[in-house]
Amino acid sequence: MRLSAMNFASIGLAALAVATSAVPAVAKTLPAKPAAATRNAAIWQDRKLDAQARATALLAAMTRAEKLQLVRTYFPPFTMGKPGMPTDMIPSAGYMPGIPRLGVPTLRESDASLGVANQVEQRKGDTATALPSSLATAASFDPAVAYEGGRMAGAEARAKTFNVLLAGGVNLTRDPWGGRDFEYLGEDPVLAGNLAGASIAGVQSNHIISTVKHFALNAQETGRMIADSHLDWTALHESDLLAFNIAIARGKPASVMCAYNLVNTEHACESHELLTKVLRGDWHYQGFVMSDWGAVHSTVKAAMSGLDQQSGEELDKEIYFGEPLKAALAKGEVPASQLDTMVRNVLTGIFASGLYDNPTPVTAQAIDYNAHADVAQKAAEEGIVLLKNAGILPLAASAKKIVLIGGHADVGVLSGGGSSQVRSVGGVPIEIPLKGGPAAGFARTTWHNSSPLQALRALLPSAQITYVDGSDKAAAAQAAQQADLALVFATQWRTEAEDILDLKLPNDQDGLIAQVAGAQPKTVVVVESGGPVLMPWLDKVGAVLAAWYPGQRGGEAIANILLGKVNPSGHLPITFPASEAQAPRPAPIGLEIVKADDAASNAGSAGGQAKSFVVDYREGADVGYRWYAKQGLKPLFPFGYGLSYTQFGFGGFAVSQSAKGPVVSLDVTNKGQVAGATVPQVYATLPGGGTARLVAYGRVQLAPGETRHLTLPVELHALAHWQAGTRNWRIEAGDYRLTLGTQAGDEQASQSLHLAQATLPAAVR
Ligand code: BGC
Repeated sequence: MRLSAMNFASIGLAALAVATSAVPAVAKTLPAKPAAATRNAAIWQDRKLDAQARATALLAAMTRAEKLQLVRTYFPPFTMGKPGMPTDMIPSAGYMPGIPRLGVPTLRESDASLGVANQVEQRKGDTATALPSSLATAASFDPAVAYEGGRMAGAEARAKTFNVLLAGGVNLTRDPWGGRDFEYLGEDPVLAGNLAGASIAGVQSNHIISTVKHFALNAQETGRMIADSHLDWTALHESDLLAFNIAIARGKPASVMCAYNLVNTEHACESHELLTKVLRGDWHYQGFVMSDWGAVHSTVKAAMSGLDQQSGEELDKEIYFGEPLKAALAKGEVPASQLDTMVRNVLTGIFASGLYDNPTPVTAQAIDYNAHADVAQKAAEEGIVLLKNAGILPLAASAKKIVLIGGHADVGVLSGGGSSQVRSVGGVPIEIPLKGGPAAGFARTTWHNSSPLQALRALLPSAQITYVDGSDKAAAAQAAQQADLALVFATQWRTEAEDILDLKLPNDQDGLIAQVAGAQPKTVVVVESGGPVLMPWLDKVGAVLAAWYPGQRGGEAIANILLGKVNPSGHLPITFPASEAQAPRPAPIGLEIVKADDAASNAGSAGGQAKSFVVDYREGADVGYRWYAKQGLKPLFPFGYGLSYTQFGFGGFAVSQSAKGPVVSLDVTNKGQVAGATVPQVYATLPGGGTARLVAYGRVQLAPGETRHLTLPVELHALAHWQAGTRNWRIEAGDYRLTLGTQAGDEQASQSLHLAQATLPAAVR
């Protein structure tokens, strides 16, 4: 039997048996009020104190039973309605009963990367605003878009009475075929870290908690619960951990979610190195660490390594932080002071996010879905990348006969699958159940109700715009030939819990595109994908848009871009390789092992017998574009690449020192006829050599003919090397070569920056 940590259908009964017997009577009786509660009340309610001081005061007022209540969360779909469980439970991802006498809020957790997810349809018809995929947001290179998306999702969460969003996915994309590539922010630590931080800050501006996840090196989905990610710690600090470090500095998430996988032989949720040395020691992180769902494997080791809260506990083999933790405390295997630390961390997150002082409503509030859809549309419009344009876009308003082909473009746009999946406003025009596989229990192939066909018709009312589904290639080619222009909508679906096996568009869409392009030279391909795809037909088509999974108003966003109502400005946050063979790993590792024992591989600690297997991240810190550069490979489209309907020019590139560190400045001019935005990027090569890495970027919107002067801070930690011995960063003395361009490898200007040797603190500020 296939099992999945979130595979409700298949593990429901077994897990329910565990859950029912283990459900404690959390909400039955309130313990007697200790005297300390009264004494300290004024202290933890004092908003002038910092979060940790307030948490410490509140902790002192808690009983042992109350403390134990905060280090575990239930998986509501399994516990809802069970004896002893609170009745106000929302059956989403997680639930921690609060402590009313002390004002500790009940935590209601929902998934959130792309909007408020509702993978378990708790209330029939309950919908939320679907943002475009995080990869689309990353393509905007715009922290303001990331912040707005987070703010919107956080507001919706609060209005739905959730107060913890399992957001902030910042794992670096190391493989172009990753199942969750669409949920992450691409392959560069500076870009991903900044945008994740902005999105987290947006979520938490609603005084609710956001996570940053999945800590760390959760880079493939195949066997994600037994994959042992191997990477030298220094390289890890300089890549994936740098992304987390920046995201935490910018976003200040109240919680960190540790990952399913192992990191250098230890489960991420019981890695002392990660959870204590790096997070607490190096970065001085004060919030709480929650596990991923089904990622806990022990009581003593996990608690002593730095895990504060066991999430969705029924999904683990044992309720490790329930009775076993009590027993470990009684035996002194976990000292009482460690429980205090765990609880203080949880409380610190609750105070720091503002949740304690701004409790979430207990009943659902009204949501302005139109305003929220505007947020999603703007994110899509900024994130869509124009990859090729042989002069046929924007579509001429004079086009009379247009045919749309395939991709269900008559009714909607594709969504990615898994826990991040939003049941979007307007319903699901197409839903294709999975036929099996690790994601089958909780993912569906669905389309959001945002029809490119209708959007185009609304913008071109006098044109004849038709749709053919593309299942018959010859018929599609004939329709294309009879039209002035063909728009082929190509789709590639990805989901959490599975990787895709190659980068080809599935179901021979390549054949369809080739045949259509053969019949109609004015063929535009709109790719809705969760990451890179191969384009064997690229030379034959007139234009290509990477629309990612464009979300709630994806159809409108695509139509606006096609018609030039919005000038495309997205830039690739991820390299599109020319073939799978160019990537560090042409295919997922461990497929055979997973096939042989997939129960173990995707059922977390509750799973089968399979042993872990090693995924060797041989590229080290040279992730993504740095790998391709190091290998001397020319990808199909490089990181950072993206076209516009106008042209930009750069001038006056200079480097100088500010009080906060080096800054670059430049002038950007819109040399064309239409308004548009561009993304200047600055890459650095260190004195010791190595691959160039992104250290600064900006995004600027310009009217035709307009010039703006930009000053961009250089991310100093990206210029430094992690020092394992002293646990800090060193800037080597020497000349740093900074190049300005609009994509990796592009050098429109360069400058030398001389730096003296310096030490940087372990934590990015
Ligand atoms: C995912 C997390 C998610 C959690 C709760 C896990 O399967 O890896 O990203 O937050 O489920 O739904």
